[in-house]
Amino acid sequence: MKSHGRLTAKPSLRPRELMAEPQVRGVWTARIVTLFPEAFPGILGLSLTGKALAQGLWNLQTIPLREFGVGKHRNVDDTPAGGGAGMVIRADVMDAALRDAKRGGPAGPVLYMSPRGRPLTQSRARALAEGPGVTLICGRFEGVDQRVLDAHDVEEVSIGDYVLTGGEIAAQVLIDATVRLIPRVLGNQDSLAEESFSIGNRGLLEHPQYTKPAQWEGREIPEVLLSGNHAAIAAWREAEAERLTKERRPDLWRAWADAAGKHPGQASDMDPAKDRQLSGASDQSRGHREPEKE
Ligand code: ADE
Repeated sequence: MKSHGRLTAKPSLRPRELMAEPQVRGVWTARIVTLFPEAFPGILGLSLTGKALAQGLWNLQTIPLREFGVGKHRNVDDTPAGGGAGMVIRADVMDAALRDAKRGGPAGPVLYMSPRGRPLTQSRARALAEGPGVTLICGRFEGVDQRVLDAHDVEEVSIGDYVLTGGEIAAQVLIDATVRLIPRVLGNQDSLAEESFSIGNRGLLEHPQYTKPAQWEGREIPEVLLSGNHAAIAAWREAEAERLTKERRPDLWRAWADAAGKHPGQASDMDPAKDRQLSGASDQSRGHREPEKE
């Protein structure tokens, strides 16, 4: 296991067993099983997440899958049972890596980043941020042997209806979305209240924002925002959030309208397939899956 981000962390040539983890106890911890530990912390090492990592507000540990590979070449994969293209990560190799990850004690659910998973949502990020952390499996190739996913009670999570080369970028997306919700990570927690999908914003998309100059290339800031009338500004923002959500995400609009007991208007007579079309999402059941290859 390797730790990232601590100001005190130094590279070590000691055997794995003897490596002390310079991590802060009791802090939200992301453990990542990956063939590319050097991809971490990546973007997470910058800006607010990077500062929070250095301050010990969260822990990052990578578990390099290659170290658990078999044979002289430390193989981690083999051909798919039943034939077909590509390679599958072996159950025994992944099992050894997951057992190593669990040495540090249980830290939240084990999630496998995969286009086949349930979509990541803001409410999932919120729930994860409230827990002790997460163990993430980053896949490559055609996938991971199903038996090890079943044995470790692994849940698959997708960051969208498209196929990435591997799970590392997806893992960083999940960690970023989650870590920023941990208290003290964001400088201004107020900004969480009004952003898209937030409870304060009723699960809707956020209203448009403007700043100085008041006139830019013939374009003006909406007058109400310069009026100083806080009630009118709040009403304008609410109306804009509703307008944008209705236009761009009929699925969210309908959910909000149903919950609010409002007449969803246009959205009420839409079918889900049309919703997805309008919001730019694909229908997973019909979408074709491109082969994942190294
Ligand atoms: N790995 C490859 N594609 C992915 C996706 N869309 N979401 C999560 N993990 C992935």
